[in-house]
Order: sequence, then structure tokens, then C-alpha cells
Amino acid sequence: MSNLAGRPIVLVGMMGTGKTSVGRVIADRLGIDFHDLDQEVERRSGKAVATIFAEQGEEAFRALESDLLGEILSRANSPVVVSTGGGIVTIAKNREMLTDPTLNVVLLEASIDEILGRLSDDDVRPLLRGDRRSALESLWRSREADYRLVAKFVVQTNGLSVAEVAQAVLREIQVAA
Ligand code: S3P
Repeated sequence: MSNLAGRPIVLVGMMGTGKTSVGRVIADRLGIDFHDLDQEVERRSGKAVATIFAEQGEEAFRALESDLLGEILSRANSPVVVSTGGGIVTIAKNREMLTDPTLNVVLLEASIDEILGRLSDDDVRPLLRGDRRSALESLWRSREADYRLVAKFVVQTNGLSVAEVAQAVLREIQVAA
């Protein structure tokens, strides 16, 4: 387990694929630190992600997100699990950080129908205004290649519980270790 837990585990994927919940379970199971980028951006800025988007724009949010990812990864010589926001791969600097071969980057995948079913009606994600299905389809189309570029592992999450996905992630990483 030390080999596996010694490398940072970074979860990427579309919103609604369970990155935060799964990341927390994996960190608990391995007894290592957990970082959720969205939550840490919110803590650091004192504002909700939706407020940052509304007041300062997406670019400002991406800058905060990128800085934080860099900080967490540069400190990650101790084992850690990092859950990223769905748009992390849209920034070249982030893709560069995430293709570091010493990271275990895992793409959590879910169908658009599955994601739509998981999101609550009052979800405040700023990029999901209007027609959610077409927003998600267009985000997936524009991001899929970059998710696949950074991911060392891909885990399908359709129909699986958080615990089952966490188990599947650990299995994938262990098989490769
Ligand atoms: C975003 C996903 C969100 C959050 C922000 C932007 C995106 O994170 O970072 O709303 O661009 O896909 P989750 O993937 O955790 O929902």
C-alpha cells in the first residue's frame, strides 16, 4: 500500500462524476490527507465558486484554481488525494502539472444522463445555466481529449455507489503499482 499511497491521487472529470465524495472516501480509506480544490478556493477567497464566477469571471476563478493546484502538488511529497473541479484541464499549465508521471491521475466518467440524474434541481454550478443537457454535452465534447490526455486511469461510474467507485479507483491504481 505504501507505493500506492505514496503517489498523489488526483481525480479529474466532469461535474457530477463524484470526484469530491469519492476522493474523501479514498483518503479516509488510505488514512491520508484530502484536498478538494473548489472547497479550498472558496475557503481562501471567502466566496462561493458561483460568486467568484459572477463577480470576477471565469478567468479569475481559473487563476485561483491553478495557483492552488500548483501549491498542493508541490507540497505533495506526503501522500494526498486531490479532487479537482471539472474545468481543471482547460488550462494548459494545469495539464502540464497533471501529466507529471509521478501522479496517479484518475478520470471518473459518467454518461450525460447519469450526471443529469445526480445533479440537484437547485444546483448552482455557474456553467450549467439554461439547457443542462446541451451545456454538459458541449463541455464534454470540448474537454474529453484533455481529460484523456492527463488521465493515467479511467474509471466508469455509471450506476455505482461512491464506495464502489472508490474501490474501483484503488483497484486500478493497485493493479498498475
Ligand atoms: C466547473 C466545475 C465545478 C467548479 C466550477 C467550474 C467546470 O467543479 O469548479 O463550477 O468548469 O466544469 P465540479 O466539477 O466539482 O462540479
